[in-house]
Amino acid sequence: QATEQGIMLEAHEFVKKYYHHLLVNTTEGKQALEYLLNRGISREEIKHFELGVALDSWDAVTKVLEKRGYPMPIMEKAGLVVRSERDGNYYDRFRNRLIFPIHNHQGKIVAFSGRIMGEGSPKYLNSPESSIFHKGKLLYQFYQAKNVMRKQNRAILMEGFADVISAFRAGVHDAVATMGTSLTEDQAKVLKTSVDQIIICYDSDQAGINATDKAAKVLQKEGFTIKVAQMPDGLDPDEYIRKFGPEKFNTSIIEASVSLMSFKMQYHRKGKNLLDETVKFQYIKEMLQEIAKLSQLIEQDYYLNQLSKEFSISIEVLKKEFGQYSNQAN
Ligand code: UTP
Ligand code: MN
Ligand code: MN
Ligand code: MN
Ligand code: MN
Repeated sequence: QATEQGIMLEAHEFVKKYYHHLLVNTTEGKQALEYLLNRGISREEIKHFELGVALDSWDAVTKVLEKRGYPMPIMEKAGLVVRSERDGNYYDRFRNRLIFPIHNHQGKIVAFSGRIMGEGSPKYLNSPESSIFHKGKLLYQFYQAKNVMRKQNRAILMEGFADVISAFRAGVHDAVATMGTSLTEDQAKVLKTSVDQIIICYDSDQAGINATDKAAKVLQKEGFTIKVAQMPDGLDPDEYIRKFGPEKFNTSIIEASVSLMSFKMQYHRKGKNLLDETVKFQYIKEMLQEIAKLSQLIEQDYYLNQLSKEFSISIEVLKKEFGQYSNQAN
């Protein structure tokens, strides 16, 4: 007697194979295959990441699921099909989209994300939350990356599917993605079971920079050593790798990642005229707040001395002022 969750998992595995087959073996899937190849994703990568395509059809998946005897109310709960309120019939959720299967941390497919081919909204359509898919607890590719992560004691945090796939091409096999949402405490705890060091490698647009700041806060609470890898010109890792090549991604981005504090300095300085005294004092206070979040006294002392030197403020006064912030932080 199969459980409901067991049926949902089995159906996802079945549909994953169906989408993949359509992409690699059929004329209907040719346009999608060309889209991927044009994006620089190879046939090998398509196989490795088990990519697929959902046809431009209202009922292709619905029909194969029905034919296989899967109970449609359960398929609806799993998010593979949707039920029309108008006619009560079931229809495919994903239509005319590239399909990225999402594994849970035990390696089972629990959801899909479908990318529109070209412009349009939403860019990615995701499976809904279900009893097998909790987006806030999952990291894309964690199951596949965890052994490499453990060996290197390092994980690289990215935003999206394409970023992780392109990073893999660059030989970076310890990358995972939060799939566009803010990093949660649950996700950070999962990472902590495998690694102590995290490199945040989010998109270099304003949204990515803000998300980096937010993710760092969550990671600091779990006690990670945090670095930040930054790309130029608003690029994301996938765009950077396609533009400058995998080799340069490793040397100029990953190996050149900076400490969280260096990132914070840049972050709080951006667009500020530090020659203006009011602005300068504001910046110093912001940095004191950041230093207060550090867990090690050695680090705190180091950055306090740096501030003191840079702005010619006596270390005694700076430490006195710092007292307020460190009390608030702890
Ligand atoms: P991005 O907007 O940075 O997309 O969102 P991307 O990964 O660069 O996508 P490409 O390169 O244009 O194909 C980052 C991630 O946020 C999630 C996806 O997981 C995406 O990879 N996202 C984004 C959604 O879930 N829905 C959306 O509509 C957009
Ligand atoms: Mn698999
Ligand atoms: Mn983005
Ligand atoms: Mn992006
Ligand atoms: Mn992208």
